[in-house]
Amino acid sequence: MIRPVMASVDPANLLRQRVRDAIVAAFGDAAGDADALIAPSRNPQFGDFQCNAAMPLAKKLGKPPRDIAGSIVEHLDITDLTDEPTIAGPGFINFTLKTMCLTKLLCRLDTSDLGIEKTDAPRRVVMDLSSVNVAKQMHVGHIRSTVIGDSLSNVLERLGHTVIRQNHLGDWGVPICMTLSALHDANVDLDSLDMEMLSDAYRRATSDGKPDYKGLQAVHDFELGPKTEAELQAQVDGAEQVIAKAKSALLKLQTGDAQTVRDWRKLIDVTMVECGRIYERLHVNITREHDAGESTYRDKLAPLVDRLLDAGLAQVSQGAVIIWIDDVEEPFILRKSDGGFLYATTDLAAIEYRVGELACDQLIYVVDARQRLHFRLLFAAARKVGIIGDAVETVHVPFGSILGPDGTPLKTRSGENIRLTDLLDEAVSRAADVVARKNPDLSDDERRQVAEAVGIGAIKYADLAQDVAKDYVFTFDRMLAFEGDTGPYLLNAYVRIQSIFRKADVTSADFTDAELLLDQPQERALALAMLQYPSAVESTAAKLQPHHLCQFAYSLATAFASFYEHCPVLRAETDDIKRSRLRLCDLTSRLLADALGLLGIRTIDRM
Ligand code: ARG
Repeated sequence: MIRPVMASVDPANLLRQRVRDAIVAAFGDAAGDADALIAPSRNPQFGDFQCNAAMPLAKKLGKPPRDIAGSIVEHLDITDLTDEPTIAGPGFINFTLKTMCLTKLLCRLDTSDLGIEKTDAPRRVVMDLSSVNVAKQMHVGHIRSTVIGDSLSNVLERLGHTVIRQNHLGDWGVPICMTLSALHDANVDLDSLDMEMLSDAYRRATSDGKPDYKGLQAVHDFELGPKTEAELQAQVDGAEQVIAKAKSALLKLQTGDAQTVRDWRKLIDVTMVECGRIYERLHVNITREHDAGESTYRDKLAPLVDRLLDAGLAQVSQGAVIIWIDDVEEPFILRKSDGGFLYATTDLAAIEYRVGELACDQLIYVVDARQRLHFRLLFAAARKVGIIGDAVETVHVPFGSILGPDGTPLKTRSGENIRLTDLLDEAVSRAADVVARKNPDLSDDERRQVAEAVGIGAIKYADLAQDVAKDYVFTFDRMLAFEGDTGPYLLNAYVRIQSIFRKADVTSADFTDAELLLDQPQERALALAMLQYPSAVESTAAKLQPHHLCQFAYSLATAFASFYEHCPVLRAETDDIKRSRLRLCDLTSRLLADALGLLGIRTIDRM
């Protein structure tokens, strides 16, 4: 995992360090590496944070927990951070931060990098993301590999790592050649090809190219008669012909036949132009520059397999070339008995390129959880044959499925995959309705822009706010709601602050040096929420879970809402309080914008 840099504005981290020191001072080696167990207070009445370390330590040392808590408090050197700590219940230690400490930490946060420190151990990271398939429309499943991969890349970059995004396009193999030869057969002018035509051709070609051997067998087994037999035989013959043609197209492609290569490139272009439009709408940093499709490795497969065979690292079994992985029943197959290579072979060659030529020391794959076994075998095989060594970390970030209301993977009514564009269009059109109702004064143009940001932001946020590995149910109404843990709620918090600034006719620069006054509990709570930012960024990187960042943004927005409700800003009692609150608003808005930016969600100034 990426080594976290200790966020030094997070009060929990500071308390953890002080309590650790006290534990060592009080109990020495006997305490071992006992954790300080600092957590936000369950009940804010008792303070801001609590330490739960006394209970497990008591067990370890065979003493009453309240005594342990007492010794810890006795050895604490903490007067600069908190009021006198109190002991409660079985041995909880409660801390209330001094207001002066909170303001000091806020000032440390209030810099251009918002308290985020660059790592002192920068890595070169490959982020395998999006990884769409040529000739296929992007469907709803692709949103996850695209937006999760993009936001994780943003976060790692922010921490000072170098991220190389790789779009591992499915751009090679028989199905694509089937599509190509079908288009040739139909005399389609490839220069006028669009995505709709291309994906239709793909669907037809791949279904025409599936020989129904089982059906034919059944005809024989159940003696279904000559007519049925003839029909099925014709299907099988036709399908075999489609495959044979595709294979000959593949051969031409492999041997570099100029016309075939040109046509194949057109299929890629048509697909990627369409994907590019979607990437732009999704506001992700994925461009053609990040294309590194399966075809990239096509000439590396045979030599790689031969090399592994020669070195005795792979073996032949029933004509296939395989690698056995300890404790796994299935072998990792590198070459089929018919000589064909597989998805896995390409991935192994890609790893070699990524650690060799790209010199990366961490490989992250944001790919559907259903490919878990593939990646487990792949990583183990790559280690076993020495393509990667101990210094390289490989991580599969397996994401769950997007489910429809009935709990099965989201499909259209007729059972087909939902095209991503259709989904985005619908989100935007629903957002336009909501926005028109909320703010009828917006011009058409503005409403369109706002709806686009709100609709897309809502979909992305709903996706990123989940534990990555879990399936989730896709519900437009919930994700577009202006209340609750949603994209629109966060955008609204941001917009509200912009409108305060417009009303007051001020900008950030007007109160950067305002003294921070945190007398109201809502001001303290807002400060505490803000100070979580660097930690949230770090844990997003360490766990590769964007929802940590979402949780931060949501808790900041709710803290802001309650601040806004209780603490008048422009009508504050004194000018000093007004300036302090404007500064709090400003810092909140910068943090929200920054967090949303890392998530890849566009902010807007009005809605
Ligand atoms: N194109 C593949 C699919 O749609 C995903 C590729 C993921 N990346 C990889 N290096 N295998 O299933």
